[in-house]
Amino acid sequence: MRNDIEKVLYSEEVILKKVKEMAKKISDDYREKDLLMVVILKGSVIFASDLIKNIDIPCDIDFMAVSSYGSGSESSGNVVIKKDIDGNIEGRDILIVEDIVDTGNTLSFLVDYFKEKKANTVKIVTLLDKPSRRNVNVDVEYSGFEVPNEFLVGYGLDYNEKYRNLPFVGILKSSIYS
Ligand code: IMP
Ligand code: MG
Repeated sequence: MRNDIEKVLYSEEVILKKVKEMAKKISDDYREKDLLMVVILKGSVIFASDLIKNIDIPCDIDFMAVSSYGSGSESSGNVVIKKDIDGNIEGRDILIVEDIVDTGNTLSFLVDYFKEKKANTVKIVTLLDKPSRRNVNVDVEYSGFEVPNEFLVGYGLDYNEKYRNLPFVGILKSSIYS
């Protein structure tokens, strides 16, 4: 598995340090709020678990699974909810937890979805941000690392469902997917 990686971008240690900083900021910002963290399956699970462990205020956790079908590997605006959250959204302060913001299609859909359901506030935390690929504008409140336009795997991110269990984020060798 490690042989399929071109380059390690962020080691486990570097990621954890960043995640702790993000968790502190979120804890400070949401101290007087009604925080509901919505983890987007599956890629965000590893990031979310490190993040949530380091949040020191009360918070609820829920999960959503979505898929967006587009041409090739690019997502589209046609986002379909495969698993919705269980609890009530109205009046809650929703923080969407994502692994990576790429085109922005998925998050733009989700922000509208929660606003329609009368959330009090809707914000986004992502470990990785690939701004060069953005199709739709989304406001990302908390972002860990700005990444180049490369295909990344590890720490939750997959290629064909593989590599999620790598403890670091790395660039996948192009020979694997071409
Ligand atoms: P968006 O709607 O294009 O922003 O899609 C974001 C989703 O695409 C992420 O949650 C990932 O599942 C996936 N994705 C985008 N870029 C990468 C990447 O470099 N590696 C693995 N998955 C990616
Ligand atoms: Mg994802």
